[in-house]
Amino acid sequence: MGLSTRLTHENIVEFLAIIYHRDTQSLYPGEQITVAQHMLQCASIAEQQGEGDTVVVAALLHDVGHLICHSDHLCLDLPDDNLSDSDQRHEEAGAVLLGKYFPQAVVDAVRFHVMAKRYLCTTEPGYIGHLSPASAGTLAGQGGLMTEVEVHCFQQKPHLDTNLKVRRIDDKANAPDFEHPDFLRYGPMIRRVLTTPG
Ligand SMILES: [Fe+2]
Repeated sequence: MGLSTRLTHENIVEFLAIIYHRDTQSLYPGEQITVAQHMLQCASIAEQQGEGDTVVVAALLHDVGHLICHSDHLCLDLPDDNLSDSDQRHEEAGAVLLGKYFPQAVVDAVRFHVMAKRYLCTTEPGYIGHLSPASAGTLAGQGGLMTEVEVHCFQQKPHLDTNLKVRRIDDKANAPDFEHPDFLRYGPMIRRVLTTPG
């Protein structure tokens, strides 16, 4: 498929494979691996932990917003203001991209993975020590620790457990020498998780 092809339930796996495979150069800000390597590492860790398909796929896709560049926007039919690939907006860009094709548990884990970092740093003493230096460095710009009200609101989210699992995995997946499978190995699993079109 070309990146100008309209996205559908049938071609979403192929589209994602293209954008993961082309991410070979740009290192994740402050890390020694690319964004795609980071997400593939997350999926591997989720599998090693024995997580189900939903958590593995959410871990695999949680930072996909970073991989969407302007050349893809025309085929995705998304509002421009949701498409920034800056750190501040990547979670929303990813959630908008996936929203039509994936169940809410996956989309929420993508949309709220930065909020989940703030939540864990606020509610678990010492959690901030598990963040990489780069991730700890972006915490303040992402809103810093949560207020009591924010903690309460976050706890009401319907897929809290999945959100937190994906975030804990996210914070473990920064090893430069980690061996992970190719994206397409996850194709059948992604197709199992996809919503039904229509
Ligand atoms: Fe991440």
